[in-house]
Amino acid sequence: MAKEILLVLAAVSCLLVGSTAQPAHVVHIVGGSKGWYTPPNTTFYDEWAAKKNFTVGDKLMFLFHSSVYNIMQVTKEDFDKCDDRHVINRWFIGPAFVNLTEPGMHYYYDSIGLHCEAGQKLSINVQENKLSVAASGAHVTTPKFVGLLGLFAYLACLLFM
Ligand SMILES: *[C@@H]1O[C@H](CO)[C@@H](O)[C@H](O)[C@H]1NC(C)=O
Ligand SMILES: *[C@@H]1O[C@H](CO)[C@@H](O)[C@H](O)[C@H]1NC(C)=O
Ligand SMILES: *[C@@H]1O[C@H](CO)[C@@H](O)[C@H](O)[C@H]1NC(C)=O
Repeated sequence: MAKEILLVLAAVSCLLVGSTAQPAHVVHIVGGSKGWYTPPNTTFYDEWAAKKNFTVGDKLMFLFHSSVYNIMQVTKEDFDKCDDRHVINRWFIGPAFVNLTEPGMHYYYDSIGLHCEAGQKLSINVQENKLSVAASGAHVTTPKFVGLLGLFAYLACLLFM
């Protein structure tokens, strides 16, 4: 049992060490070098997002001129219709940083003129940060799983520290 506790402590501490030793969270420049603009087709931002992985803790950087463009974060329903019935958040000053603090689907568009209809809209699926989930989950998992996890973390720590 004492061994088990040691392993759990090793697991938690190594996971904590691991998560703080992680490289800095990614800042995604939306649209790459084009930034946030009205694109020539309606798939431009889908094509851009398809090459990325978005994780909780990352940031989006929207590069745009204030008053020419803006950003609305909305529900899927509004996103599909370029509607603004359920605005979650809005940004008017460019460049804008958006913190990705929640996992799941996120929807953004530009509400000026027909920019949204023209394809200035971005939907992304934000993944959980696996390391922080594992660290917080370690307290509630079954002893067997924790022991196994602890063993891995322990070995990982022996190898990497
Ligand atoms: C959409 O426009 C971008 C930027 O000009 C281009 O790279 C991309 O190939 C276009 N996509 C389609 C499906 O035409
Ligand atoms: C995204 O994640 C997948 C699967 O984990 C990986 O194969 C791919 O290289 C990642 N892409 C980027 C841009 O990090
Ligand atoms: C976004 O995260 C940074 C730290 O990474 C923080 O300083 C900033 O206040 C956050 N912005 C918002 C709007 O929560």
